[in-house]
Amino acid sequence: MERFKDKVVIVTGAAQGVGEAIARRLAQEQAAVGILDIQVDKAKAVASDIGLTSGKAMAVEMDITDSSSVKQAIKEVEQSWGRIDVLVNNAGWDKLMLFMDLPEELWDRIIAINLRGPITVTRAVLDGMRERNYGRIVNIGSDAGRVGSTGESVYSACKGGMIAFTKTLARELVRYNILVNCICPGPAETPLLASMAEANPNLIDALKKAIPMRRLAKPEDIAAAVAFIASDEAGYITGQTLSVSGGLTMA
Ligand SMILES: NC(=O)c1ccc[n+]([C@@H]2O[C@H](COP(=O)([O-])OP(=O)(O)OC[C@H]3O[C@@H](n4cnc5c(N)ncnc54)[C@H](O)[C@@H]3O)[C@@H](O)[C@H]2O)c1
Repeated sequence: MERFKDKVVIVTGAAQGVGEAIARRLAQEQAAVGILDIQVDKAKAVASDIGLTSGKAMAVEMDITDSSSVKQAIKEVEQSWGRIDVLVNNAGWDKLMLFMDLPEELWDRIIAINLRGPITVTRAVLDGMRERNYGRIVNIGSDAGRVGSTGESVYSACKGGMIAFTKTLARELVRYNILVNCICPGPAETPLLASMAEANPNLIDALKKAIPMRRLAKPEDIAAAVAFIASDEAGYITGQTLSVSGGLTMA
């Protein structure tokens, strides 16, 4: 498939995990892909591997919690490739802790990465999308934001916030042909989940038992859904939330 031929896509947090799989999938479908991440060396390695194998990619250092870093990174992609057609707000982070034990400094960090960060990146791409009367924004939420998740209180508040942000933006921006949707992964095999499982050795087995398909998501499962919802095949879909979770949640 070549659904992203002549499209410029940026993916935040694309140096590893779900974001990397999204970047690789969209590059395979002929997009020019900006790999935006705070881990710039890993981002460069992914971009150069994509360049060698399937397509066109550039790595740009960006910290989504820092407005000036975000503006600089967006400018760099727009100057190199002329525009941004698709934004995938994927970067995210959490630490598994019960709310009663979660220190206030961590509330701020979780909110900065999972809520304020994607809002900042979204604002930075909108002027260009509106000018060109074309845009696709895909927010990576979480089923934690739909049904809750023990040990993920503030994170789930942020992800629920991103679902509501998706719906409101979809209403406001449809007149500019900018469509906004949210993909909610269930538990996925990524470095983030591995770090959460370190302190909870039974976590992965317990999750597998709870998932009707009896396996975790592979990052590629999420990437396939993002590729569809960001493509022009989904041109009549906006403001929607889709769980990709092996049936774990049916919200
Ligand atoms: N893995 C799961 O089980 C799971 C489940 C539901 C939702 N999600 C969501 O999927 C998305 C990707 O998660 P993942 O599991 O691939 O995580 P991951 O930790 O493996 O990868 C996240 C990437 O985001 C980058 N990042 C973190 N903070 C950043 C910042 N301030 N600025 C720029 N980049 C930053 C990291 O460097 C990393 O490359 C997140 O939004 C996460 O909340 C993951």
